[in-house]
Amino acid sequence: MQILVIGSGAREHALAWKISQSPLCRKLYCAPGNPGTMSLGENVPLNPADIERLADFAQTKRIDLTVVGPEMPLALGIVDEFEKRRLRIFGPNKKAAEIEESKVFAKQFMTRHNIPTARYRAASSPPRAREIIKSGEFSFPLVVKADGLAAGKGVFICRAPDKADEAVQRIMVEKEFGDAGARVLVEEFLTGKEVSFIALTDGIKVRPLVSVMDHKALLDGDQGPNTGGMGAISPSPFLDKNLFAEVMDGILIPTVTRLLEEGRKFRGVIYCGLMLTEKGPKVLEYNCRFGDPETQPQMLRLKSDLVEIISDALEDNVLARGMEWTGRPAGCVVLASGGYPGAYEKKKWIQGVDDAARLSGVTVFHAGTKLEGDRLLTGGGRVLAVCASEETLADTMRRIYSGVQLISFEGMHYRKDIGAGLGEKESP
Ligand code: AMP
Ligand code: GLY
Repeated sequence: MQILVIGSGAREHALAWKISQSPLCRKLYCAPGNPGTMSLGENVPLNPADIERLADFAQTKRIDLTVVGPEMPLALGIVDEFEKRRLRIFGPNKKAAEIEESKVFAKQFMTRHNIPTARYRAASSPPRAREIIKSGEFSFPLVVKADGLAAGKGVFICRAPDKADEAVQRIMVEKEFGDAGARVLVEEFLTGKEVSFIALTDGIKVRPLVSVMDHKALLDGDQGPNTGGMGAISPSPFLDKNLFAEVMDGILIPTVTRLLEEGRKFRGVIYCGLMLTEKGPKVLEYNCRFGDPETQPQMLRLKSDLVEIISDALEDNVLARGMEWTGRPAGCVVLASGGYPGAYEKKKWIQGVDDAARLSGVTVFHAGTKLEGDRLLTGGGRVLAVCASEETLADTMRRIYSGVQLISFEGMHYRKDIGAGLGEKESP
């Protein structure tokens, strides 16, 4: 098969890495890919949002399978366009992807179908949002969220009324996230442990991936602002077998089934961000794609052929064969530019990546990197993802951090406590 991976992050590098190991993969393209994917296949300088040109490329090159990493092309309808041209592509169509694209839609959907989530109100004007905040219906802290796609940054946990007002101001008035802020959600603040629950679905049946835990906050001890994710470990220490079954039966399967009933057949990767509250798991958000950085440890643990499983899903038979995983844990530490998730400088010279990648058991996935001549420079907020999979979580993290020590660039920031103190509890 000729396979095209769309996207340029460490998630896409990890997917490309796994796909390139499949005996079914004859030639791999990444659009646009990054310096890491260059050694696995051919990078094609196409923008993931340029659906027409991507479809033209897939047609001209006779691509047999396209796998989409980021949410944006899915929300723009890349799957609809490819399917119109009879090109095989793995991901939800525009209608199904709305589950991530609009948080208001997702909330209304969950409410209609009794899928557990935080209580909320939606507002389409700043005065209405402020009225909801003042009404006292939600005690502080409360959460204010932009409705649309904001790269994980449109969510504000507000401890006092002035902070909530400020969130409304930034989202709706200053339009920091553009059109994504035309509507906001005000919602109840949930407490508990957070887990990412990710599954492949053919629209009817659901095939869960191994559990994984993201570390969203910028700083050690879960302090500082939320980011796209600063590291991840798999399995999650908080999702035991019973809880896993509860999430499948009470959340994942009803979500896919109800979407189908509403005429939004969802084929692709369904990702539930969950809070494990005292009253059971509740949905924080849906994503319509693989997680980043969650995919990196998951791909390290996957023993089966990803191309076969995606092909099964495209043939409406995602459960056709078993999915095998190594029993070993895996982890990932993200190296970010100083200033991320706010403004940061680019073009810092990165040193030591080859040395780290040469360490036995260490895998380095690229994200925001750029090649200038033979120099590797920073080109994004999250720059590299250093990963490993060893006998125990402690060994895994030691191995990863020994790789991290060898890498440096000006302003480099990473968390030193990914996976720390999280034990070795049994989970799927
Ligand atoms: P979201 O993009 O909706 O998943 O929100 C991003 C992050 O904000 C989540 O991963 C949580 O850490 C936090 N968050 C979102 N909604 C809530 C909530 N209702 N209660 C507590 N934390 C939340
Ligand atoms: N790591 C969070 C996400 O992929 O949405």
